[in-house]
This record gives sequence, structure tokens and C-alpha cells, in this order.
Amino acid sequence: MTKPVLDEAIGGVYKSLHPAKMVVADLGCSSGCNTFVVMSEVLDVVGDLRRSLQERQEPPEIQFFLNDLPGNDFNHVFRCLGEYKRKVEQEKGNLLVPYYVAGVPGSFYGRLFPRRSVHFFHCSGSLNWLSQVPQGLDTERGASLNNTNIYITETSPPEVVKAYQRQFQRDLSEFLRCRYAELSYEGRLVISFGDRKSNCPT
Ligand SMILES: C[S@@+](CC[C@H](N)C(=O)[O-])C[C@H]1O[C@@H](n2cnc3c(N)ncnc32)[C@H](O)[C@@H]1O
Repeated sequence: MTKPVLDEAIGGVYKSLHPAKMVVADLGCSSGCNTFVVMSEVLDVVGDLRRSLQERQEPPEIQFFLNDLPGNDFNHVFRCLGEYKRKVEQEKGNLLVPYYVAGVPGSFYGRLFPRRSVHFFHCSGSLNWLSQVPQGLDTERGASLNNTNIYITETSPPEVVKAYQRQFQRDLSEFLRCRYAELSYEGRLVISFGDRKSNCPT
């Protein structure tokens, strides 16, 4: 995700809504070096905007929801939070916007939050994970069309490519349907995907 796109979206939400409580959800947060990147970005952008707009009223309180599948190592995420908090407190001192963090285990291919409750969604590098193995990868007799492969390869026949495409379209539609219900008015959703430059699906 390019930083300018992310910053523009976060700033846009803050400037148009000025929420007293801003709700941010990172979908597919993982448990590694990128897990807190969106939190840092939101804290930076909102803090900088408040300074440049010379806002004197109470700062907003930010609620971060970190979502991933239940098998994600949330224990590791929560254990790293203390150190993260100390680091941002040192960096920002009393300019730090107050924030709270909670984990949300569950699939983003279903509803995760109440209706119209989230101001900003972020989802990066995660929607290439399908919700299930596509249907249609076997012949009527039960033989595998894709040999032993678990993804599209150069030897995959067109039916296999189509099956993956159909599953992706179904999943992405469901993802968007859920986020549409959960996003607050004038909220924003930023999605980033890895992509390829050629037409070859492998
Ligand atoms: C490659 S990591 C991306 C991590 C991070 N967002 C980043 O940009 O580096 C993909 C993450 O998506 C999560 N994921 C995959 N399918 C998911 C689903 N249906 N619901 C929630 N998280 C999912 C995986 O568990 C994994 O942690």
C-alpha cells in the first residue's frame, strides 16, 4: 500500500467526520512486522492534522480493531502491544492521540462489526486468501483437474482458472457486502492487492 493513498483516506475520514470516537479496523492484520503499521499511520495522520489545523478541542479517542482468522497468533500480537505503546508514547509524548486496541477473531468474509459502526477499514495483502477451495476442481468421476496443485499453475486447464476466478468473485462480493453494512456514513475502505503485469494467471 502506498503511504499517500493510505494517508489521504485516513485524513479524509478525519476531516469530513471529526468523530469524537474514531473506529478503525485492520482486516487480516497477521502477527508480524506489519501488524501495527496501520495503527501508526492513523495516529500520525490524525495527530499531524490536529496540529496543522490548530485544534483546541479534546482529541478524538481512537478504537483500533485488529482482525484475523481465529488461528492467527493473537497472543503474540497482544504481547508486542506493550512495547509498541511505550515506543509511540516516547516518540509523541503528550501529542499522542488516545487509543485503544482490541482483537477481533473471525473471517472477513462474514459480518464482524455492528451496522454503520466503522469509520475506516484497511485490508492489505489478504483478499488473495479465498474463503474455501473452489468447487469444480474435480471431474465428474472425482479425478483432480489440477493434479496435486493447490493453486493455478502453468499446467492448470482453463476450467481450473475459471473455478478460482468464480470463487474470488463470490468472496470479494461477500466481503464488500459486509463492509458496506458496517461502514459508517462517509467512512472509507482501503484495500491493497498484490498484482501481476501479464495476462498469464500463473
Ligand atoms: C499476507 S498476510 C497480510 C498481513 C498484513 N495485512 C500485511 O499487509 O502485511 C494475510 C493475512 O490475512 C489473513 N486472512 C486470510 N483470510 C482471512 C479471512 N477470511 N479473514 C480474516 N483474515 C484472513 C491471514 O491469516 C494472514 O494473517
